[in-house]
Amino acid sequence: MTPETIERQAIERQAIERRVRELGRWFHNIDLKGVRTAPDHFLGDYPAIKWRRFAHAIPEDLSGKTVLDIGCNGGFYAIEMKRRGADRVVAVDFDDVYLNQARFAAEVMGADIEFRKLSVYDVALLKEKFDVVLFMGVLYHLRHPLLALDLIWEHVAKDILVFQSMLRGPDVVFPVQDDYPFSETEHFERPGYPRMVFVENKYSNDETNWWIPNRAGMEAMLRSSGFTILEHPEEEVFVCRRGGRSDFVETVHPARG
Ligand SMILES: C[S@@+](CC[C@H](N)C(=O)[O-])C[C@H]1O[C@@H](n2cnc3c(N)ncnc32)[C@H](O)[C@@H]1O
Repeated sequence: MTPETIERQAIERQAIERRVRELGRWFHNIDLKGVRTAPDHFLGDYPAIKWRRFAHAIPEDLSGKTVLDIGCNGGFYAIEMKRRGADRVVAVDFDDVYLNQARFAAEVMGADIEFRKLSVYDVALLKEKFDVVLFMGVLYHLRHPLLALDLIWEHVAKDILVFQSMLRGPDVVFPVQDDYPFSETEHFERPGYPRMVFVENKYSNDETNWWIPNRAGMEAMLRSSGFTILEHPEEEVFVCRRGGRSDFVETVHPARG
């Protein structure tokens, strides 16, 4: 390398470092040409450590596919989808701080991603269905988690849903019968009965952690919202296919005019 190249790289690195600092506190630790965006993340090199545990469950070649990343945060997964050759990646988040971080990360990485400020509750506004939808690490931050899954099924999921949630409780699934008589209550107490706990105050210093399911509860909700679980490649991750859902499921928002 010539001295000019070394100097140019040092200047570029300083500019990236400065912009990363200006963009606030990052949740995604992304390697931007040698600059780490969240080197002190409480979960380690996150989300790269998680991605390494389930990346094999997603097609390596996404050419010809469209991808929607809901709750994209700093853009780590959206950039990975583009790296796998997806034709089109749309990434949405309702938080401007994270969206600005993601825009910058994509620019530095040369990833052509369309960003939109959007809540999961408003995905109908996209007016498009995507081959692959990522819905990672968002469900437990929602006051209305089942509504979000129903909306994704109804408005944006065409085929594959890559889903992740924080889970608590036993990693077992109790085989629930189709129905029980009113007098039967014992099964509710079984470990592995589908459950979701409501957090009124905070969990892990975060007042937006509202609902935390156990594994059985998460699987049951995904199925109930019309997603067939194809793989469970990592303890919190489910790869699903959009299927049919019960006629009793009614997506109530936005109201049909
Ligand atoms: C724990 S982070 C997960 C980020 C990323 N998907 C991942 O798995 O690493 C949660 C993200 O969801 C976003 N989020 C929370 N509620 C949302 C909502 N109603 N609509 C869209 N994004 C939301 C937050 O702004 C944040 O970026």
